[in-house]
Amino acid sequence: MVKLMPYYRNRNPVTNTLKTVTERNRTMNKKTQAVLKSLEEEAKEKGNPYWIISRETGEFLNKLILEKNIKRVLEVGTSVGYSGIWLAEALTHTDGKLYTIESHNERFKMANKNFKEADLQDYIIQLKGHAPDVEIHDMFDLLFLDATKIEHLSYLIAFLFHMKKNGIIVADNALSHEREMKKYKDYIFNSDQLESKLIETGTGLYYSKII
Ligand SMILES: C[S@@+](CC[C@H](N)C(=O)[O-])C[C@H]1O[C@@H](n2cnc3c(N)ncnc32)[C@H](O)[C@@H]1O
Repeated sequence: MVKLMPYYRNRNPVTNTLKTVTERNRTMNKKTQAVLKSLEEEAKEKGNPYWIISRETGEFLNKLILEKNIKRVLEVGTSVGYSGIWLAEALTHTDGKLYTIESHNERFKMANKNFKEADLQDYIIQLKGHAPDVEIHDMFDLLFLDATKIEHLSYLIAFLFHMKKNGIIVADNALSHEREMKKYKDYIFNSDQLESKLIETGTGLYYSKII
């Protein structure tokens, strides 16, 4: 029997993510780090008024982009830009671009300010509108869904046409909003086009790969 060393025994997506990001934090632009920290503190103090993802989920997405050398990302639900900063920070290393959709005027503007302060504006295209009714002229490697949970299936169906071969779709709130996500879950686990799994990171993620 092969005796595993502690490092290998402990290997799981979350542990690996934390290790890599801890290492990468040393090289992350200070302005980017400062904006992330300030949004995290605000969320902690005020009860997450802008519904930002957990840091753990941000780290997971960041690492996913780096590992798979992802270049084009579409996000539905920018809010004030916290997840967008994690996504775009990784895209600075792959020379990619984030397209992110937000329907709320004030949050759209706040995200714009945060992206500039984080020094990431060159890697982000903000789209103002109500998904899926937003015109998009690009193809994506990664789709991140974090808007109105009961509408996630409609975003998925509409934006599947904009996904590249072997593209990845990640939807947040799989565990925190089980009821609202039921139709989405049923669809992804019964689709011949997708290979899906649940990842117990943050509030739960549905991870699907186009096959
Ligand atoms: C959970 S928050 C997004 C949080 C963000 N991803 C983060 O972690 O920083 C959801 C956002 O989606 C926006 N939203 C909801 N439905 C939308 C739609 N159909 N199209 C565009 N934006 C939408 C809301 O206005 C809200 O700001």
